[in-house]
Amino acid sequence: MLIEHEELRHHWYVVAEARDLDAADAGITRPLGVRLLGADYVVWRSPAGELVAAPDRCPHRESPLTLGTVTDGCLTCAYHGWTFGDGGACVEVPSSGVGRRVPPKAHLPTVHARERYGLVWVCPGEPVADIPRVEAEDDPSYRRINSGVERWATSVTRMTDNFLDIAHFPWVHTGTFGIQGQLAVPPIELEQLDDDFYGYRYDVEVANAAGKSSSGLDAPVITRRMTTGFNLPFTVRSTIHYETGLDHLILLCSTPIDDATSYFTFVIWRNDDFSVPGEEVIAFDRAIGAEDRAMLERVPGVLPLDPLATVSVQSDKPSVEWRRRLAALLGA
Ligand code: FES
Ligand SMILES: [Fe+2]
Repeated sequence: MLIEHEELRHHWYVVAEARDLDAADAGITRPLGVRLLGADYVVWRSPAGELVAAPDRCPHRESPLTLGTVTDGCLTCAYHGWTFGDGGACVEVPSSGVGRRVPPKAHLPTVHARERYGLVWVCPGEPVADIPRVEAEDDPSYRRINSGVERWATSVTRMTDNFLDIAHFPWVHTGTFGIQGQLAVPPIELEQLDDDFYGYRYDVEVANAAGKSSSGLDAPVITRRMTTGFNLPFTVRSTIHYETGLDHLILLCSTPIDDATSYFTFVIWRNDDFSVPGEEVIAFDRAIGAEDRAMLERVPGVLPLDPLATVSVQSDKPSVEWRRRLAALLGA
């Protein structure tokens, strides 16, 4: 099982969007329930506004805390009303009456949680690396567009492999940007793209199907100057530069729920004039993602980390290197 590798616990994973935390249903705010590396967690925003994430198990009688409610940032268990505040500290045990000491073990054994890029990131162990840095986040000439979190019935390894691969464009992306006939992939040179991403640069001719709303250009076929790279274990970033000066960055986040299921979300940063509504801008990327998903959900199991278990060719170079580094990280 891939998810049983202890090393994976020490990295950050996207489990939700920050806006999911604040959704109320009929005036009642529920904490968020997420599943990561085969374990269930409850996540909510505490009175101080900080994220709290903890195993979805009440220390009292093990009721799922996700059945509880959040009031003024405090999470109240649905079973006997024990209530948890900042840092997961138990602040109230109703059956003990007012002013009684709370047993030290009543506090929740929290895990690391952070909000960045409009996303909720969780690390169940001790983080060995920071969340990958996207400089456009702090650049006012860029806007960020979040796309929502989906649940894909495929392994996170299949996703990362796919997001590093361009040879599937004319085969899988026939309904979006893939150009029939442009099948050969030019030689790929791998390099350190910046501090956080390792990958390659390439130019690709694509169908300008989404037209101006996506590329800012009218021509039927346009050239994208691109980079694609990975950050271990499963984050991929693609940057697209159009000749108009438009930059379009995509952060692709894949999270192992278990070996056969994953969360997927992408985040876009663009230095456009902000005139096209965000949802319109990402409609094209959404359609591309749906094409990948349809393919990947039919490929069973985890991608073998043993390079000899599958056959690779020149165009697989980025994925082969990612897989080699992942295997090294896992001590496999
Ligand atoms: S099980 Fe949560 S308060 Fe009793
Ligand atoms: Fe794809």
